[in-house]
Amino acid sequence: MALVFHGTVIHSLGPTELEILEDALLIVRADGTVQSLDAGVAKSSVPNLLAARGLDDEVRYLSRGEFLIPGFVDTHNHAPQYAQRGLGQSMHILDWLDNVTFPNEARFADVAYAERIYGACVDGFLRQGITTASYYGSMHADATNILADLCLKKGQRAFVGKCNMNRNAPDFYRDATVESSLGDTEKCIEHIRKIDPESKLLKHVLTPRFAITCDPELLQGLGQIAANNPDLPIQTHFNEAEQEMNFTKTLFPQFDNEVDLYNSYGLLNQRSILAHCCFVSEYELTQLKELGCGVAHCPISNMTVGGGFMAAPIREFLRRGIKVGLGTDSGGGFSASILDAMRQALVASNAREVMSQGRDKGLDLAEIFFLATLGGAQVCCLEDKVGNFRVGKHFDALLINSSRPGVMTMLEDWDSTRTIFDKFIMTGDDRNIELVFVNGRRVKP
Ligand code: GUN
Ligand code: FE
Repeated sequence: MALVFHGTVIHSLGPTELEILEDALLIVRADGTVQSLDAGVAKSSVPNLLAARGLDDEVRYLSRGEFLIPGFVDTHNHAPQYAQRGLGQSMHILDWLDNVTFPNEARFADVAYAERIYGACVDGFLRQGITTASYYGSMHADATNILADLCLKKGQRAFVGKCNMNRNAPDFYRDATVESSLGDTEKCIEHIRKIDPESKLLKHVLTPRFAITCDPELLQGLGQIAANNPDLPIQTHFNEAEQEMNFTKTLFPQFDNEVDLYNSYGLLNQRSILAHCCFVSEYELTQLKELGCGVAHCPISNMTVGGGFMAAPIREFLRRGIKVGLGTDSGGGFSASILDAMRQALVASNAREVMSQGRDKGLDLAEIFFLATLGGAQVCCLEDKVGNFRVGKHFDALLINSSRPGVMTMLEDWDSTRTIFDKFIMTGDDRNIELVFVNGRRVKP
């Protein structure tokens, strides 16, 4: 059975290239990949065109205010923090970890609790149109495997990582030894390879929480696993806040900066997803570009619990061709919505414009949409699979309905498609995300 849509399709071809296709005919093969996408096809000619291709599938004709966009990619998300979103606002990062986050994440030793919260988490993010998520799990292998099972069952494309942390965390919530931390990681890698052997939806992601909670032997061991498994992505928190950067320097006085630190342990390459990157020197910018690392921009947590309270230099990353996507950073970020992250990225970029005396121009809507879709796919090295509707990619898509009751700015007869799109991006919410598809499978409602 193929899926067939006729109507407006909007996607990104690059940071500033927003493509709006009117009267588009989009056909998805039974295997979930895009078979064809043609614009300017008269509605009346669709039945004959399909017949000529031997297709007799029902066509979903989109009406005014309805359009398809690619699914959102959340490049940085803490699944166990789904239950603590919104808590501890304005705390500096290390205080927030000690007082709010570690006690919360410790509860995931209980697999029944993990099952309940992770079920709600995956459902919740799918409802928000997040078709790909890069998740930090808790430190627990069993709970992390439950998260992977749930992503597969519910149909979300995901990176799932057991969080490695063996120091500077309370006794009740840290890996007992380097060996147990690495052993649990290997168990989680095996689990995902068993349940999704072809990596259709899932990959394990190596997840040193950050250097503060990992001693050098643990970082070394994870670097070794990365070298032995070149298919695995890697994620960590990077130059998030002054409090974090200063403490990191006291633990690793031999390194001047975090690029040299993580790189020396073999953790930086084109599969690395670095969350935050709020403070980046000229040297680090050059290195990040050369190493091919991606940035998970988390504009909400950067200004709420990141402790950096900082607008990251996104314009500079784009200027240099460093990969950038968006992260909800749920629950340091209080919102599970990528639309909220997009809007905050816009706000933060305007602050950056002022801070840089106009050098780093604020982002526009095409750019924040790129970050939420194709940019995120690039950061996750999934650009050949998702991020837009190029023929051959997997159909990860959202059907937007602008007329649903909610808070989205109402449509007027004279609105252009671009105006309707702008209204959705700036004022729509999950009520306007009517259907969600991952690899052609409907995952919402
Ligand atoms: N640094 C280390 N752990 C975390 C976390 O859970 N959230 C954020 N925002 N920063 C971190
Ligand atoms: Fe985070």
